[in-house]
Amino acid sequence: MNLHIIIDWKDIDPNWKKFGKKNDLDEIQVFRFRISKNTDWILGNKGMLSQKESEKLARIVREEDKNTFLASTILKKILCGYYLGCEPQSVEFEMNEFQKPKIKNQENIHFNTSHSGDWLIFIFSSNPCGIDIEKINPDFDYPSVLKMSFHPDEIDFIQKSKQPEEQFFKIWTIKESILKAEGTGLMDNLNELNTLQDFAKLPDNTDPWHTKSMLIEGVYWCSVCFKNASAKMKFFEI
Ligand SMILES: CC(C)(COP(=O)(O)OP(=O)(O)OC[C@H]1O[C@@H](n2cnc3c(N)ncnc32)[C@H](O)[C@@H]1OP(=O)(O)O)[C@@H](O)C(=O)NCCC(=O)NCCS
Repeated sequence: MNLHIIIDWKDIDPNWKKFGKKNDLDEIQVFRFRISKNTDWILGNKGMLSQKESEKLARIVREEDKNTFLASTILKKILCGYYLGCEPQSVEFEMNEFQKPKIKNQENIHFNTSHSGDWLIFIFSSNPCGIDIEKINPDFDYPSVLKMSFHPDEIDFIQKSKQPEEQFFKIWTIKESILKAEGTGLMDNLNELNTLQDFAKLPDNTDPWHTKSMLIEGVYWCSVCFKNASAKMKFFEI
């Protein structure tokens, strides 16, 4: 797999600050939103949905999934509206061929989103970026998916680890964040992507992806993947 990636294995322990509506794209800005604590707010903003989005909402069966869809759709519009300096309802999106959303006719504002359990998270940057969050699920039959999606070195590392489930979910989010930054989502040969390899030994002229991981509340791994390594990363609670 021909991807140039620098993985930062030192995890970030973010200081999540209240979002002050400072949409500074010289920074990489990461947002988190706790869905269950904000259901009244989410339902109160249902009116921001387009006709098509309302129809999609009506087709979702589980209450929890409805709230996640609503929160994601509303916040995507609000946050993109901040960055563009326009009303949330007027933000238009388009998808790439793999369904990654972007702001229509806008190449300078990049974002990505992910949700797991109670958390919805976003990353915004002036360059392409990806984000993935997964709740560590000790009951998940992780050995059954290792061969298909993980490199033999990663499998060895996970199996020898003292906390194999935790390492599995961490590496999973790293790989997903890379796929989501690339915009492909799925990749057939994911088991050829070796996150343990020393990707830093690259020719000088390459523009690699960078990843960083963080543990949220001790049970969610979240990884971000981005291009502009010199940019400050800021973390906001919505
Ligand atoms: C898009 C994909 C990455 C979704 O992953 P997921 O974990 O189910 O969902 P997440 O919550 O992380 O992300 C969903 C968001 O990703 C965004 N998204 C959709 N397609 C995307 C794509 N191709 N690239 C990047 N982002 C995408 C959307 O904004 C979506 O949220 P929304 O529908 O509320 O707008 C999907 O292609 C997938 O299931 N990939 C699996 C790849 C795999 O096999 N991984 C093995 C483990 S390493």
